[in-house]
Amino acid sequence: MPTLIPQPSQANFHETVFNLLPTAEIVLNTTESEVFNIAALLAAALRPATRFELPIRAGKASQAGDIALMLEGNDPQLGAEGYTLEISPEKATLRAPTAAGLFYATQTLRQLFPIAIDCKDEQPNQTWQIACGQVRDQPNYAWRGMMLDVARHFFGVDALKHLIDLLAYHKINTLHLHLTDDQGWRIMIESWPWLALHGGSTATNGDPGGYYTQADYRAIVAYAQERYITVVPEIDMPGHTNAALASYDELNENGLAPNLYTGIKVGFSSLAIHKAITYQFIEDVVREIAALTPGKYLHIGGDETHSTSETDYITFIERIQEIVTKTGKQMIGWEEIGKTHLKPGTVAQFWWNRKVITQATDQGNSIIMSPANKAYMDIKYHEMTTLGLAWTKSYTEIKDAYEWDPASLIDGLPAESILGIESALWTETIFTQGNLDFMAFPRLCGYAEIGWTPPEKRNWDEYRGRLAKHGQRLQKMGIQFYHSSQIDWE
Ligand code: ACM
Repeated sequence: MPTLIPQPSQANFHETVFNLLPTAEIVLNTTESEVFNIAALLAAALRPATRFELPIRAGKASQAGDIALMLEGNDPQLGAEGYTLEISPEKATLRAPTAAGLFYATQTLRQLFPIAIDCKDEQPNQTWQIACGQVRDQPNYAWRGMMLDVARHFFGVDALKHLIDLLAYHKINTLHLHLTDDQGWRIMIESWPWLALHGGSTATNGDPGGYYTQADYRAIVAYAQERYITVVPEIDMPGHTNAALASYDELNENGLAPNLYTGIKVGFSSLAIHKAITYQFIEDVVREIAALTPGKYLHIGGDETHSTSETDYITFIERIQEIVTKTGKQMIGWEEIGKTHLKPGTVAQFWWNRKVITQATDQGNSIIMSPANKAYMDIKYHEMTTLGLAWTKSYTEIKDAYEWDPASLIDGLPAESILGIESALWTETIFTQGNLDFMAFPRLCGYAEIGWTPPEKRNWDEYRGRLAKHGQRLQKMGIQFYHSSQIDWE
């Protein structure tokens, strides 16, 4: 029987098989370019190991041996991201009312093939059989995110594309980029170029810095968009701003830029809350970031402002909320924004303090669940993990990361206020691609399942077995993941 991560909401398979042959075609019931792109990504995923041509044809009835992609709008219960998959001995038929749904159907199909499908080299002696059956599937949560901190250490465009491929494979639909912090400013703002040129020149531990040009950033957003992932940019303020303060004297209360910072303390920096130039700066940054962002959300951070008084914090956040909403975007902030007056549509992101997140839901605002002691991937797996931190005073093994429920984690939160789950990888100790893979995988597989699969279909003992097999796929993809002793790896 196939093993899928995330587990579909409904699936049954039987003994008969469909065999993908070298003559197979991918047939579309539409000429829409979006569906053609989905088919092209599917063919590109299946080609390296099979070396089949897999030509894509539109508007022709599919024949025995084909994969059919059908954009069909007659099943409203599938929602914005749901799909069905029907595998018979003759063909594999993927149906969805939306292109996003069809894309997820292709990701499920990839995982139905033998593990060798994920090899990068031709597998000449392999047959490409998949079990016949039906899948009817849709996500439990609309928000299935991962945050990557590119400020403490910088990860370039290729590293992000690699990550985006893996997010898409696990049906995660949001990549939140923490673009600025004390240790680095990682995106070119044309009206304030020293933010990136000076503020982006270094990183934690004095490691090399870097920044995205606006062209780089557009390329990341477009690559993600083709894989049904929305990029949410975060410009953290008023704290976590040393890189900005170091780049421009006039942003400082005393008019003097501090040195660049390469340590790992938090809470020591603040924008000058009472200077007019601060708000000119923010208007410029928000305008440029909004113009780079097709998604509807801009994240303004707002966390750990230990160098800003509470009154100043409230004044500041409410003013920023005006600036963000004027661009037509919705604001997201870390949970601390619950202390301020939130507009309808503003979203708060839980990470630690249950009281302040409740202040957000009490105002009727929606929230994203990122509990640090469950969903932070900078936290060590166990005492001996050489990478990572343990500031939560606990470790996060695979089981801890998997076995929790966003809807019941905090007593009294209205279920309808929870948009979904977002895991977070802070990078104080994470520097290389291998470091990133090791801390994210396989925890990210579990977060993907929490976001997608209904809670009644999630079970640790059963998941362990699936993850053991799934690990072989990650291995074939070259992911240097953590081989937890909680899993009997195959
Ligand atoms: C956070 O971990 N400071 C959001």
